[in-house]
Amino acid sequence: MEQISLSWLITLVALFLFLPLILLSTRNKANTSNNFPPGKTGWPIIGESLEFLNTGRRGVPEKFIHDRMQKFSSHIFRTSLLGEPAAVLCGPTGNKFLYSNENKLVQAWWPSSVYKIFPSTGQSSSSEEAIKMRKMLLSFFKPEALQRYVETMDTIAKQHLKNEWENRKEVMVFPLSKGYTFALACKLFMSIDDPIQLARFADPFAILASGVIAIPINLPGTSFNKAIKASELIRKDLHKIIKQRKIELAEKRASPMQDVLSHMLSTSDENGTFMSEMDIADKILGLLIGGHDTASAAITFVMKFLAELPHIYNDVHKEQMEILKSKGSRELLKWEDIQKMKYSWNVACEVMRLAPPLQGGFREALADFTYNGFSIPKGWKLYWSTNSTHKNSTYFPNPENFDPSRYEGNGPAPYTYVPFGGGPRMCPGKEYARLEILVFMHNVVTKFKWEKILPDENIVVNPMPVPAKGLPIRLEPQVC
Ligand code: HEM
Repeated sequence: MEQISLSWLITLVALFLFLPLILLSTRNKANTSNNFPPGKTGWPIIGESLEFLNTGRRGVPEKFIHDRMQKFSSHIFRTSLLGEPAAVLCGPTGNKFLYSNENKLVQAWWPSSVYKIFPSTGQSSSSEEAIKMRKMLLSFFKPEALQRYVETMDTIAKQHLKNEWENRKEVMVFPLSKGYTFALACKLFMSIDDPIQLARFADPFAILASGVIAIPINLPGTSFNKAIKASELIRKDLHKIIKQRKIELAEKRASPMQDVLSHMLSTSDENGTFMSEMDIADKILGLLIGGHDTASAAITFVMKFLAELPHIYNDVHKEQMEILKSKGSRELLKWEDIQKMKYSWNVACEVMRLAPPLQGGFREALADFTYNGFSIPKGWKLYWSTNSTHKNSTYFPNPENFDPSRYEGNGPAPYTYVPFGGGPRMCPGKEYARLEILVFMHNVVTKFKWEKILPDENIVVNPMPVPAKGLPIRLEPQVC
Protein backbone atom coordinates (compact mmCIF):
# COMPACT_ATOMS: atom_id res chain seq x y z
CA MET A 1 0.00 0.00 0.00
CA GLU A 2 2.77 2.32 1.05
CA GLN A 3 4.58 1.39 -2.15
CA ILE A 4 1.54 2.32 -4.25
CA SER A 5 1.14 5.70 -2.50
CA LEU A 6 4.81 6.43 -3.00
CA SER A 7 4.67 5.64 -6.70
CA TRP A 8 1.51 7.82 -7.00
CA LEU A 9 3.30 10.62 -5.23
CA ILE A 10 6.30 10.34 -7.56
CA THR A 11 4.01 10.29 -10.60
CA LEU A 12 2.12 13.35 -9.32
CA VAL A 13 5.32 15.30 -8.64
CA ALA A 14 6.70 14.28 -12.03
CA LEU A 15 3.50 15.34 -13.73
CA PHE A 16 3.49 18.65 -11.87
CA LEU A 17 7.11 19.32 -12.81
CA PHE A 18 6.98 18.15 -16.38
CA LEU A 19 3.42 19.00 -17.40
CA PRO A 20 4.38 22.41 -18.79
CA LEU A 21 7.16 20.77 -20.81
CA ILE A 22 4.84 18.03 -22.03
CA LEU A 23 2.23 20.61 -22.99
CA LEU A 24 4.85 22.70 -24.71
CA SER A 25 6.18 19.74 -26.63
CA THR A 26 2.65 18.72 -27.69
CA ARG A 27 2.08 22.31 -28.83
CA ASN A 28 5.32 22.21 -30.78
CA LYS A 29 4.31 18.88 -32.25
CA ALA A 30 0.97 20.38 -33.18
CA ASN A 31 2.86 23.26 -34.72
CA THR A 32 5.14 21.02 -36.73
CA SER A 33 2.22 18.98 -37.98
CA ASN A 34 0.53 22.29 -38.78
CA ASN A 35 0.41 23.41 -42.34
CA PHE A 36 3.10 26.07 -42.23
CA PRO A 37 4.12 27.89 -45.42
CA PRO A 38 6.96 26.22 -47.36
CA GLY A 39 10.45 27.58 -46.75
CA LYS A 40 13.49 27.12 -44.55
CA THR A 41 14.40 28.57 -41.19
CA GLY A 42 18.20 28.58 -41.51
CA TRP A 43 20.52 28.54 -38.50
CA PRO A 44 19.40 28.37 -34.86
CA ILE A 45 18.60 31.85 -33.51
CA ILE A 46 19.99 33.88 -36.42
CA GLY A 47 17.84 31.99 -38.92
CA GLU A 48 18.30 33.41 -42.42
CA SER A 49 19.21 36.91 -41.19
CA LEU A 50 22.72 36.78 -42.62
CA GLU A 51 21.49 35.89 -46.11
CA PHE A 52 18.75 38.52 -45.81
CA LEU A 53 21.23 41.25 -44.81
CA ASN A 54 24.04 40.03 -47.09
CA THR A 55 21.99 40.01 -50.30
CA GLY A 56 21.31 43.66 -49.45
CA ARG A 57 24.98 44.39 -48.81
CA ARG A 58 25.75 42.85 -52.20
CA GLY A 59 23.23 45.27 -53.74
CA VAL A 60 20.66 42.62 -54.70
CA PRO A 61 18.09 42.54 -51.86
CA GLU A 62 15.53 41.25 -54.35
CA LYS A 63 17.56 38.03 -54.67
CA PHE A 64 16.57 36.87 -51.17
CA ILE A 65 12.90 37.28 -52.08
CA HIS A 66 12.99 36.12 -55.73
CA ASP A 67 15.01 32.94 -55.03
CA ARG A 68 12.56 31.84 -52.37
CA MET A 69 9.47 32.83 -54.36
CA GLN A 70 10.80 30.64 -57.15
CA LYS A 71 11.80 27.74 -54.92
CA PHE A 72 8.86 27.64 -52.48
CA SER A 73 5.85 29.71 -53.54
CA SER A 74 5.15 32.99 -55.29
CA HIS A 75 2.53 33.82 -52.62
CA ILE A 76 4.20 33.15 -49.28
CA PHE A 77 7.30 31.54 -47.85
CA ARG A 78 8.52 30.77 -44.38
CA THR A 79 11.85 31.97 -43.01
CA SER A 80 13.43 33.16 -39.76
CA LEU A 81 14.70 36.73 -39.55
CA LEU A 82 16.42 38.76 -36.83
CA GLY A 83 15.78 36.05 -34.24
CA GLU A 84 12.08 35.58 -35.07
CA PRO A 85 10.04 32.98 -36.97
CA ALA A 86 8.69 34.81 -39.99
CA ALA A 87 6.77 34.53 -43.24
CA VAL A 88 7.16 36.76 -46.27
CA LEU A 89 3.89 37.53 -48.03
CA CYS A 90 4.46 38.21 -51.70
CA GLY A 91 2.81 39.92 -54.66
CA PRO A 92 -0.03 42.46 -54.63
CA THR A 93 -2.28 40.01 -52.76
CA GLY A 94 0.25 39.66 -49.95
CA ASN A 95 0.74 43.44 -49.78
CA LYS A 96 -3.00 44.06 -49.74
CA PHE A 97 -3.55 41.45 -47.04
CA LEU A 98 -0.96 42.97 -44.69
CA TYR A 99 -1.94 46.60 -45.35
CA SER A 100 -5.65 46.00 -44.91
CA ASN A 101 -5.43 43.83 -41.79
CA GLU A 102 -3.56 46.37 -39.66
CA ASN A 103 -4.77 46.05 -36.05
CA LYS A 104 -7.14 43.26 -37.08
CA LEU A 105 -4.90 40.26 -37.78
CA VAL A 106 -1.53 42.03 -37.74
CA GLN A 107 0.19 45.03 -36.20
CA ALA A 108 3.39 46.89 -37.00
CA TRP A 109 6.51 45.31 -35.55
CA TRP A 110 10.09 46.45 -35.46
CA PRO A 111 13.17 44.27 -34.94
CA SER A 112 14.44 44.21 -31.32
CA SER A 113 17.40 46.36 -32.42
CA VAL A 114 14.90 49.19 -33.06
CA TYR A 115 13.24 48.81 -29.64
CA LYS A 116 16.63 48.93 -27.94
CA ILE A 117 17.71 52.04 -29.80
CA PHE A 118 14.32 53.78 -29.50
CA PRO A 119 12.95 52.60 -26.14
CA SER A 120 9.66 54.48 -26.57
CA THR A 121 8.87 52.62 -29.81
CA GLY A 122 7.94 49.66 -27.59
CA GLN A 123 5.01 51.61 -26.24
CA SER A 124 4.15 53.40 -29.47
CA SER A 125 3.88 50.24 -31.55
CA SER A 126 0.56 49.77 -29.74
CA SER A 127 -2.07 50.86 -32.18
CA GLU A 128 -3.39 53.72 -30.01
CA GLU A 129 0.00 55.38 -29.63
CA ALA A 130 0.75 54.95 -33.31
CA ILE A 131 -2.61 56.45 -34.29
CA LYS A 132 -1.96 59.50 -32.05
CA MET A 133 1.48 59.95 -33.54
CA ARG A 134 0.15 59.67 -37.08
CA LYS A 135 -2.63 62.16 -36.35
CA MET A 136 -0.10 64.66 -35.13
CA LEU A 137 2.23 64.08 -38.06
CA LEU A 138 -0.54 64.23 -40.59
CA SER A 139 -1.58 67.65 -39.32
CA PHE A 140 1.99 68.70 -40.02
CA PHE A 141 2.31 66.96 -43.36
CA LYS A 142 -1.13 67.62 -44.84
CA PRO A 143 -1.10 69.48 -48.19
CA GLU A 144 -2.25 72.83 -46.67
CA ALA A 145 0.66 72.72 -44.22
CA LEU A 146 3.15 71.45 -46.79
CA GLN A 147 2.42 74.36 -49.12
CA ARG A 148 4.09 76.61 -46.56
CA TYR A 149 7.32 74.60 -46.72
CA VAL A 150 7.95 74.84 -50.48
CA GLU A 151 9.68 78.22 -50.30
CA THR A 152 11.84 77.14 -47.34
CA MET A 153 12.81 73.97 -49.20
CA ASP A 154 13.69 75.99 -52.31
CA THR A 155 15.79 78.44 -50.27
CA ILE A 156 17.69 75.61 -48.58
CA ALA A 157 18.20 73.76 -51.90
CA LYS A 158 19.58 76.92 -53.52
CA GLN A 159 21.89 77.63 -50.57
CA HIS A 160 23.04 74.02 -50.54
CA LEU A 161 23.90 73.98 -54.27
CA LYS A 162 25.62 77.35 -54.03
CA ASN A 163 27.78 76.32 -51.06
CA GLU A 164 28.51 72.70 -51.93
CA TRP A 165 28.20 72.27 -55.72
CA GLU A 166 28.87 75.50 -57.55
CA ASN A 167 32.42 76.11 -58.83
CA ARG A 168 33.34 72.48 -58.25
CA LYS A 169 34.36 70.11 -61.01
CA GLU A 170 33.58 66.96 -59.02
CA VAL A 171 31.24 66.21 -56.13
CA MET A 172 30.15 63.16 -54.14
CA VAL A 173 26.38 62.95 -54.48
CA PHE A 174 25.32 60.72 -51.60
CA PRO A 175 26.84 62.64 -48.66
CA LEU A 176 25.71 65.92 -50.22
CA SER A 177 22.12 64.82 -50.77
CA LYS A 178 22.08 63.61 -47.16
CA GLY A 179 23.32 67.04 -46.14
CA TYR A 180 20.43 68.66 -48.04
CA THR A 181 17.64 66.44 -46.66
CA PHE A 182 19.13 66.58 -43.16
CA ALA A 183 19.36 70.38 -43.21
CA LEU A 184 15.73 70.51 -44.35
CA ALA A 185 14.54 68.10 -41.65
CA CYS A 186 16.44 69.98 -38.91
CA LYS A 187 14.98 73.28 -40.08
CA LEU A 188 11.38 72.12 -40.54
CA PHE A 189 11.18 69.75 -37.55
CA MET A 190 13.26 71.70 -35.01
CA SER A 191 14.01 75.16 -36.52
CA ILE A 192 17.73 74.37 -36.41
CA ASP A 193 19.83 75.89 -39.15
CA ASP A 194 23.11 76.50 -37.38
CA PRO A 195 25.79 74.79 -39.55
CA ILE A 196 27.87 73.92 -36.44
CA GLN A 197 24.94 72.12 -34.82
CA LEU A 198 24.14 70.37 -38.13
CA ALA A 199 27.74 69.21 -38.49
CA ARG A 200 27.75 67.89 -34.88
CA PHE A 201 24.71 65.74 -35.67
CA ALA A 202 25.76 64.44 -39.07
CA ASP A 203 28.22 61.65 -38.14
CA PRO A 204 26.30 60.08 -35.25
CA PHE A 205 23.16 60.10 -37.43
CA ALA A 206 24.94 58.21 -40.21
CA ILE A 207 26.21 55.58 -37.72
CA LEU A 208 22.78 55.28 -36.14
CA ALA A 209 20.97 54.84 -39.46
CA SER A 210 23.16 51.96 -40.59
CA GLY A 211 22.85 50.11 -37.25
CA VAL A 212 19.10 50.31 -36.74
CA ILE A 213 18.22 47.20 -38.71
CA ALA A 214 21.03 44.94 -37.53
CA ILE A 215 21.49 41.67 -35.69
CA PRO A 216 21.12 42.94 -32.10
CA ILE A 217 24.50 41.86 -30.75
CA ASN A 218 25.63 44.57 -28.37
CA LEU A 219 29.39 43.93 -28.35
CA PRO A 220 32.11 46.53 -28.94
CA GLY A 221 32.62 47.05 -32.67
CA THR A 222 29.27 45.70 -33.90
CA SER A 223 27.17 48.14 -35.92
CA PHE A 224 24.39 47.66 -33.37
CA ASN A 225 26.70 48.70 -30.52
CA LYS A 226 27.90 51.74 -32.48
CA ALA A 227 24.28 52.70 -33.22
CA ILE A 228 23.33 52.57 -29.52
CA LYS A 229 26.27 54.82 -28.62
CA ALA A 230 25.42 57.24 -31.44
CA SER A 231 21.77 57.38 -30.33
CA GLU A 232 22.83 58.22 -26.76
CA LEU A 233 24.99 61.06 -28.03
CA ILE A 234 22.22 62.52 -30.19
CA ARG A 235 19.59 62.05 -27.48
CA LYS A 236 21.72 64.11 -25.06
CA ASP A 237 21.75 66.99 -27.56
CA LEU A 238 18.04 66.59 -28.26
CA HIS A 239 17.21 66.81 -24.54
CA LYS A 240 19.08 70.12 -24.36
CA ILE A 241 17.18 71.40 -27.41
CA ILE A 242 13.83 70.26 -25.94
CA LYS A 243 14.50 71.96 -22.60
CA GLN A 244 15.48 75.17 -24.35
CA ARG A 245 12.35 75.07 -26.51
CA LYS A 246 10.14 74.56 -23.44
CA ILE A 247 11.54 77.79 -22.00
CA GLU A 248 11.03 79.62 -25.31
CA LEU A 249 7.43 78.39 -25.53
CA ALA A 250 6.72 79.45 -21.96
CA GLU A 251 8.20 82.89 -22.68
CA LYS A 252 6.29 83.07 -25.99
CA ARG A 253 9.55 83.32 -27.92
CA ALA A 254 8.55 80.23 -29.90
CA SER A 255 5.16 79.39 -31.38
CA PRO A 256 3.32 76.07 -30.89
CA MET A 257 3.00 75.59 -34.66
CA GLN A 258 6.54 76.68 -35.50
CA ASP A 259 7.79 73.14 -36.16
CA VAL A 260 7.22 69.50 -35.24
CA LEU A 261 9.08 69.91 -31.93
CA SER A 262 6.92 72.82 -30.74
CA HIS A 263 3.84 70.96 -31.87
CA MET A 264 4.78 67.87 -29.82
CA LEU A 265 5.53 69.96 -26.74
CA SER A 266 2.27 71.89 -26.97
CA THR A 267 -0.17 69.10 -27.86
CA SER A 268 -1.76 66.96 -25.15
CA ASP A 269 -3.91 63.87 -25.60
CA GLU A 270 -7.64 63.80 -24.75
CA ASN A 271 -6.74 63.18 -21.06
CA GLY A 272 -4.59 66.30 -21.00
CA THR A 273 -1.35 64.28 -20.81
CA PHE A 274 1.68 65.67 -22.61
CA MET A 275 4.39 63.50 -24.13
CA SER A 276 7.43 62.93 -21.93
CA GLU A 277 10.76 64.45 -22.97
CA MET A 278 12.15 60.97 -23.61
CA ASP A 279 9.21 60.15 -25.83
CA ILE A 280 9.61 63.40 -27.77
CA ALA A 281 13.37 62.88 -28.17
CA ASP A 282 12.77 59.35 -29.50
CA LYS A 283 10.05 60.47 -31.89
CA ILE A 284 12.10 63.36 -33.26
CA LEU A 285 15.08 61.04 -33.59
CA GLY A 286 12.95 58.53 -35.52
CA LEU A 287 11.54 61.25 -37.75
CA LEU A 288 14.97 62.68 -38.48
CA ILE A 289 16.27 59.25 -39.47
CA GLY A 290 13.19 58.06 -41.36
CA GLY A 291 12.65 61.46 -42.86
CA HIS A 292 16.07 62.25 -44.27
CA ASP A 293 17.81 58.97 -45.10
CA THR A 294 15.01 57.69 -47.30
CA ALA A 295 14.67 60.88 -49.32
CA SER A 296 18.43 61.29 -49.70
CA ALA A 297 18.64 57.72 -51.06
CA ALA A 298 15.89 58.60 -53.56
CA ILE A 299 17.70 61.81 -54.62
CA THR A 300 21.02 59.96 -54.98
CA PHE A 301 19.41 57.42 -57.32
CA VAL A 302 17.64 60.16 -59.30
CA MET A 303 21.11 61.64 -59.91
CA LYS A 304 22.49 58.22 -60.84
CA PHE A 305 19.75 57.39 -63.34
CA LEU A 306 19.79 60.89 -64.88
CA ALA A 307 23.54 60.50 -65.44
CA GLU A 308 23.02 57.11 -67.10
CA LEU A 309 20.01 58.12 -69.22
CA PRO A 310 20.64 61.40 -71.10
CA HIS A 311 17.24 61.31 -72.89
CA ILE A 312 15.45 61.18 -69.52
CA TYR A 313 17.70 63.98 -68.21
CA ASN A 314 16.80 66.09 -71.27
CA ASP A 315 13.06 65.66 -70.71
CA VAL A 316 13.32 66.51 -67.00
CA HIS A 317 15.48 69.52 -67.88
CA LYS A 318 12.90 70.70 -70.44
CA GLU A 319 10.03 70.47 -67.94
CA GLN A 320 11.98 72.28 -65.23
CA MET A 321 13.22 75.02 -67.58
CA GLU A 322 9.64 75.84 -68.58
CA ILE A 323 8.82 76.30 -64.89
CA LEU A 324 11.95 78.37 -64.30
CA LYS A 325 11.23 80.62 -67.30
CA SER A 326 7.67 81.23 -66.09
CA LYS A 327 9.02 82.86 -62.91
CA GLY A 328 10.78 86.07 -61.94
CA SER A 329 14.56 85.81 -61.56
CA ARG A 330 14.50 85.85 -57.74
CA GLU A 331 11.09 84.27 -57.27
CA LEU A 332 11.06 81.07 -55.20
CA LEU A 333 9.18 77.90 -56.14
CA LYS A 334 5.56 77.69 -55.06
CA TRP A 335 3.12 74.83 -54.52
CA GLU A 336 1.58 75.47 -57.98
CA ASP A 337 5.00 75.01 -59.60
CA ILE A 338 5.37 71.63 -57.91
CA GLN A 339 2.04 70.53 -59.42
CA LYS A 340 3.50 71.18 -62.88
CA MET A 341 6.42 68.78 -62.33
CA LYS A 342 4.50 65.74 -63.53
CA TYR A 343 7.16 64.16 -65.72
CA SER A 344 9.88 64.75 -63.11
CA TRP A 345 7.74 63.00 -60.49
CA ASN A 346 7.16 60.06 -62.85
CA VAL A 347 10.93 59.83 -63.19
CA ALA A 348 11.37 59.88 -59.39
CA CYS A 349 8.68 57.18 -59.09
CA GLU A 350 10.49 54.96 -61.59
CA VAL A 351 13.72 55.52 -59.63
CA MET A 352 11.96 54.36 -56.43
CA ARG A 353 10.59 51.30 -58.22
CA LEU A 354 14.08 50.21 -59.25
CA ALA A 355 15.87 51.38 -56.10
CA PRO A 356 13.26 51.59 -53.32
CA PRO A 357 14.70 53.50 -50.34
CA LEU A 358 12.92 51.10 -47.94
CA GLN A 359 12.82 47.46 -48.91
CA GLY A 360 9.66 46.57 -47.01
CA GLY A 361 8.16 46.39 -43.53
CA PHE A 362 7.47 43.96 -40.71
CA ARG A 363 4.19 43.07 -39.04
CA GLU A 364 3.33 40.71 -36.18
CA ALA A 365 0.43 38.21 -36.25
CA LEU A 366 -2.09 39.19 -33.54
CA ALA A 367 -3.88 35.81 -33.71
CA ASP A 368 -3.54 32.41 -35.38
CA PHE A 369 -4.87 32.69 -38.93
CA THR A 370 -4.73 31.01 -42.30
CA TYR A 371 -3.29 32.69 -45.40
CA ASN A 372 -3.36 31.09 -48.82
CA GLY A 373 -4.14 27.75 -47.17
CA PHE A 374 -1.17 27.95 -44.76
CA SER A 375 -1.26 28.38 -40.98
CA ILE A 376 0.28 31.49 -39.46
CA PRO A 377 0.60 31.21 -35.66
CA LYS A 378 0.04 34.21 -33.39
CA GLY A 379 3.33 36.02 -32.76
CA TRP A 380 4.98 35.14 -36.07
CA LYS A 381 6.55 38.06 -37.85
CA LEU A 382 5.33 38.86 -41.34
CA TYR A 383 7.21 40.82 -43.95
CA TRP A 384 6.05 42.63 -47.08
CA SER A 385 8.68 43.51 -49.64
CA THR A 386 8.78 46.03 -52.46
CA ASN A 387 10.97 43.45 -54.17
CA SER A 388 8.18 40.90 -54.63
CA THR A 389 6.44 43.18 -57.15
CA HIS A 390 8.68 46.08 -58.26
CA LYS A 391 10.93 43.97 -60.45
CA ASN A 392 8.36 41.36 -61.41
CA SER A 393 7.54 41.24 -65.13
CA THR A 394 3.93 40.21 -64.38
CA TYR A 395 3.27 43.69 -62.99
CA PHE A 396 6.00 45.75 -64.67
CA PRO A 397 6.72 44.49 -68.21
CA ASN A 398 10.45 44.59 -69.01
CA PRO A 399 11.11 45.41 -65.36
CA GLU A 400 14.76 46.37 -65.93
CA ASN A 401 13.75 49.12 -68.40
CA PHE A 402 13.59 52.64 -67.02
CA ASP A 403 10.18 53.83 -68.19
CA PRO A 404 8.53 56.84 -66.51
CA SER A 405 5.41 56.38 -68.67
CA ARG A 406 4.39 53.50 -66.36
CA TYR A 407 2.93 56.14 -64.02
CA GLU A 408 0.79 57.89 -66.65
CA GLY A 409 -2.99 57.37 -66.70
CA ASN A 410 -4.07 54.94 -64.01
CA GLY A 411 -0.47 53.94 -63.34
CA PRO A 412 0.60 50.55 -61.96
CA ALA A 413 -2.03 48.05 -60.75
CA PRO A 414 -3.09 48.45 -57.09
CA TYR A 415 -0.65 47.12 -54.46
CA THR A 416 2.13 46.51 -57.01
CA TYR A 417 3.98 49.83 -56.66
CA VAL A 418 4.62 50.27 -52.95
CA PRO A 419 7.73 52.36 -52.15
CA PHE A 420 5.71 54.13 -49.43
CA GLY A 421 3.85 51.02 -48.20
CA GLY A 422 0.07 51.08 -48.01
CA GLY A 423 -2.97 51.02 -45.74
CA PRO A 424 -3.12 52.75 -42.36
CA ARG A 425 0.66 52.54 -41.87
CA MET A 426 1.49 54.05 -45.23
CA CYS A 427 4.31 56.57 -44.99
CA PRO A 428 2.91 59.83 -43.55
CA GLY A 429 5.93 61.68 -44.99
CA LYS A 430 5.14 60.77 -48.63
CA GLU A 431 4.05 64.26 -49.73
CA TYR A 432 6.85 65.92 -47.80
CA ALA A 433 9.30 63.57 -49.56
CA ARG A 434 7.74 64.35 -52.96
CA LEU A 435 8.29 68.07 -52.36
CA GLU A 436 11.89 67.82 -51.21
CA ILE A 437 12.82 65.49 -54.09
CA LEU A 438 11.14 67.69 -56.74
CA VAL A 439 12.56 70.93 -55.34
CA PHE A 440 16.02 69.39 -55.50
CA MET A 441 15.50 68.07 -59.04
CA HIS A 442 14.34 71.51 -60.20
CA ASN A 443 17.41 73.24 -58.84
CA VAL A 444 20.00 70.67 -59.84
CA VAL A 445 18.90 70.16 -63.48
CA THR A 446 18.46 73.86 -64.15
CA LYS A 447 22.03 74.50 -62.93
CA PHE A 448 24.06 71.43 -63.90
CA LYS A 449 24.77 68.56 -66.24
CA TRP A 450 26.80 65.67 -64.86
CA GLU A 451 28.36 62.31 -65.57
CA LYS A 452 29.36 59.42 -63.34
CA ILE A 453 33.07 59.17 -62.53
CA LEU A 454 32.82 55.44 -61.72
CA PRO A 455 30.73 53.84 -64.47
CA ASP A 456 30.36 50.48 -62.65
CA GLU A 457 30.04 51.59 -59.06
CA ASN A 458 28.49 48.86 -56.85
CA ILE A 459 25.30 49.39 -54.88
CA VAL A 460 25.07 48.44 -51.19
CA VAL A 461 21.71 48.16 -49.39
CA ASN A 462 22.23 48.66 -45.63
CA PRO A 463 19.31 49.16 -45.04
CA MET A 464 18.90 51.94 -47.66
CA PRO A 465 20.44 51.56 -51.10
CA VAL A 466 23.65 53.55 -51.49
CA PRO A 467 26.30 53.63 -54.24
CA ALA A 468 29.32 51.99 -52.57
CA LYS A 469 31.66 54.96 -53.19
CA GLY A 470 29.04 57.67 -52.64
CA LEU A 471 28.36 58.35 -56.36
CA PRO A 472 31.16 60.71 -57.38
CA ILE A 473 30.16 62.78 -60.44
CA ARG A 474 31.80 65.25 -62.80
CA LEU A 475 29.82 68.50 -62.95
CA GLU A 476 29.32 70.99 -65.73
CA PRO A 477 27.29 74.17 -65.41
CA GLN A 478 24.09 74.01 -67.42
CA VAL A 479 23.94 76.49 -70.30
CA CYS A 480 20.24 77.21 -70.53
C1 HEM B 1 11.41 58.77 -50.42
C2 HEM B 1 11.17 58.91 -49.16
C3 HEM B 1 10.44 57.93 -48.27
C4 HEM B 1 10.12 56.62 -48.48
C5 HEM B 1 10.41 55.76 -49.70
C6 HEM B 1 9.42 56.16 -47.29
C7 HEM B 1 8.91 54.88 -47.13
C8 HEM B 1 8.16 54.48 -46.03
C9 HEM B 1 7.53 53.19 -45.91
C10 HEM B 1 7.60 52.08 -46.95
C11 HEM B 1 6.89 53.17 -44.72
C12 HEM B 1 5.95 52.08 -44.22
C13 HEM B 1 6.65 50.95 -43.52
C14 HEM B 1 5.67 49.85 -43.18
O1 HEM B 1 4.69 49.60 -43.83
O2 HEM B 1 5.98 49.19 -42.21
C15 HEM B 1 7.14 54.42 -44.06
C16 HEM B 1 6.68 54.76 -42.80
C17 HEM B 1 6.95 55.94 -42.19
N1 HEM B 1 7.57 57.04 -42.74
FE1 HEM B 1 8.37 57.15 -44.60
N2 HEM B 1 9.34 57.20 -46.39
C18 HEM B 1 9.94 58.29 -46.95
C19 HEM B 1 10.05 59.55 -46.39
C20 HEM B 1 9.57 59.89 -45.16
C21 HEM B 1 9.65 61.20 -44.60
C22 HEM B 1 10.24 62.40 -45.33
C23 HEM B 1 9.12 61.13 -43.34
C24 HEM B 1 8.96 62.21 -42.33
C25 HEM B 1 9.14 63.43 -42.54
C26 HEM B 1 8.69 59.77 -43.12
C27 HEM B 1 8.11 59.31 -41.97
C28 HEM B 1 7.61 58.04 -41.80
C29 HEM B 1 6.99 57.56 -40.56
C30 HEM B 1 6.82 58.35 -39.27
C31 HEM B 1 6.57 56.24 -40.80
C32 HEM B 1 5.90 55.29 -39.83
C33 HEM B 1 4.39 55.34 -39.99
C34 HEM B 1 3.66 54.38 -39.05
O3 HEM B 1 4.29 53.51 -38.47
O4 HEM B 1 2.45 54.49 -38.94
N3 HEM B 1 8.98 59.05 -44.25
N4 HEM B 1 7.91 55.22 -44.89
